[in-house]
Amino acid sequence: MENYQEPQVLKESIYVGGEALKKAPEIVGVPTGIEGLDDLFFTIKQIDGKLKQVPLGGIPKYSVFNITGVSDTGKSLMVEQFAVYRARQGDKVAFITVETPANFVAASLKYRAMAMGYDFSEFEDNIILIDAASHWKLRENIPDLLATLAYAIKEYKIDYTIIDSVTGLFENKEMMARSIVRRIFNFLKKWYQTALLVSQKRSGHEDLSAEAAGGYAVGHIVDGTMVLAKELIMSQYAARIYKAQLGELVRFFRIDGCRMSGHDTKTHFMEITETGLVRIKEPIGGKR
Ligand SMILES: Nc1ncnc2c1ncn2[C@@H]1O[C@H](COP(=O)(O)OP(=O)(O)OP(=O)(O)O)[C@@H](O)[C@H]1O
Ligand SMILES: [Mg+2]
Repeated sequence: MENYQEPQVLKESIYVGGEALKKAPEIVGVPTGIEGLDDLFFTIKQIDGKLKQVPLGGIPKYSVFNITGVSDTGKSLMVEQFAVYRARQGDKVAFITVETPANFVAASLKYRAMAMGYDFSEFEDNIILIDAASHWKLRENIPDLLATLAYAIKEYKIDYTIIDSVTGLFENKEMMARSIVRRIFNFLKKWYQTALLVSQKRSGHEDLSAEAAGGYAVGHIVDGTMVLAKELIMSQYAARIYKAQLGELVRFFRIDGCRMSGHDTKTHFMEITETGLVRIKEPIGGKR
């Protein structure tokens, strides 16, 4: 056979446990600025010989999350809120915008900051926008996108990355969804980013499932998924169980798995305030 190659041993891929552990980052929480979210993650620690659940106080550092939901469920609001909050803490955040041109996103971020009671001008340069909406090459060519992001990470010392949305990176080529998301995921891990990737869900999928990106199981690749959903209350039954009015729109939030830490598994009510702030509330069917 012409193309036959003797199988190769990749010794650099083998680590004994202790060696791998030395490279393992300690899991700490990153506060998100999203009310009600930070309490939902925890870790297990040994205290006085007993195993105890200790709250992380945020999403696990270095985690890559998939934020999914149908249109208008608050995904963009949520990641913008996170970007603004981290930037205000003095962190550098890369915001890759795939659908909306950068100037519109900047206006939205400024508005978000105002709603949170911050003066955007004090930290606006901590958010580094990468405009893949206006530059089709970044959308169509993942190596160009990642090279641009690598450059920005080095240049601005970025620790946090947002992509809104990854779905826009595999438009018309959904069979590529997994491989594209995997490349992005591996890249973000290599660069020690804590990242939120928005992915759009078809309304045909069950609302509160993590199935997104046309069913291509993006959730299996990333560290965890947060699902945002909404329901229009059109029956007395729904009105009663959700304690809502007929015709009201009720919003839900759920963490669908997180590999890097323990997490709450209940479905929570979610609110988008009049000023556009996302807030996670009590679980359906009882107080926390
Ligand atoms: N001040 C506000 N600014 C923006 N959105 C607001 C505000 N107040 C309430 N909202 C609600 O938030 C929703 C927008 O959510 P968002 O843009 O985050 O949706 P999304 O999940 O990103 O949707 P898509 O998949 O279409 O991008 C609006 O439809 C609106 O109902
Ligand atoms: Mg959006």
